[in-house]
Amino acid sequence: MASPALEIKDLQAWYGESHVLHGVDMVVQPGEVVTLLGRNGAGRTTTLRAIMGLTGTRKGSIRVNGHETIGLPTYKIAHYGIGYCPEERGIFASLSAEENLLLPPPLKGSEPGMSVQEIYAMFPNLAERRASQGTRLSGGEQQMLAVARILRTGARLLLLDEISEGLAPVIVQALARMITTLRAKGYTIVMVEQNFRFAAPLADRFYVMEHGRIVERFGAAELQAKMPVLNELLGV
Ligand SMILES: Nc1ncnc2c1ncn2[C@@H]1O[C@H](COP(=O)(O)OP(=O)(O)O)[C@@H](O)[C@H]1O
Ligand SMILES: [Mg+2]
Repeated sequence: MASPALEIKDLQAWYGESHVLHGVDMVVQPGEVVTLLGRNGAGRTTTLRAIMGLTGTRKGSIRVNGHETIGLPTYKIAHYGIGYCPEERGIFASLSAEENLLLPPPLKGSEPGMSVQEIYAMFPNLAERRASQGTRLSGGEQQMLAVARILRTGARLLLLDEISEGLAPVIVQALARMITTLRAKGYTIVMVEQNFRFAAPLADRFYVMEHGRIVERFGAAELQAKMPVLNELLGV
């Protein structure tokens, strides 16, 4: 059997003296869409950052496509085929949409990513707005661009932090279609979400975090049965 796309065992992470993750365990198979739910401050962003080597100290094990990465710097971790889309999106204001798109170099050792043509076919809005400055793009366009940019690098494992946050319902629907398309193309996706109604129909499996630990894990088929627990943990 192929290695999991992501296999996390007893992950602990610190920001300075502050111990934030207290033993996170998670397995994501190639092609799965997994959603990480939790209240604000639960440790979801820190989990994504720890996977990328962007927290302070990390302990435990994080295997990406079978490769142990716990001792590696961020750029080496990325080269195993991960694309990280941070909550703040990271679009450069002074560059055009297309310059932003072309900025990250392709990952060494990964399959080639989507071509600019493929990206514009998938995101027609970005094609129209290619010459617009980063700051002139709407929130939705910036979010599409932030995801499109990592697709170009060849990353096949995508870590997406709160992509639906603060966006109008029509844009959130477009992002949902994007996730469905990427899943159909075989991408592996770990999404952090506050917006349960956005995440619920998209994910194959769910993890719920609280105080730096995973407190619930279940598949899409169990979602209905888990609603009372989720209501208690998340207020959904
Ligand atoms: N840069 C940081 N330095 C110190 N503590 C942080 C930092 N970022 C987050 N934290 C703390 O780590 C905990 C988890 O935060 P975070 O991972 O951002 O949660 P979530 O994404 O689930 O809302 C919180 O208690 C938060 O205050
Ligand atoms: Mg967060």
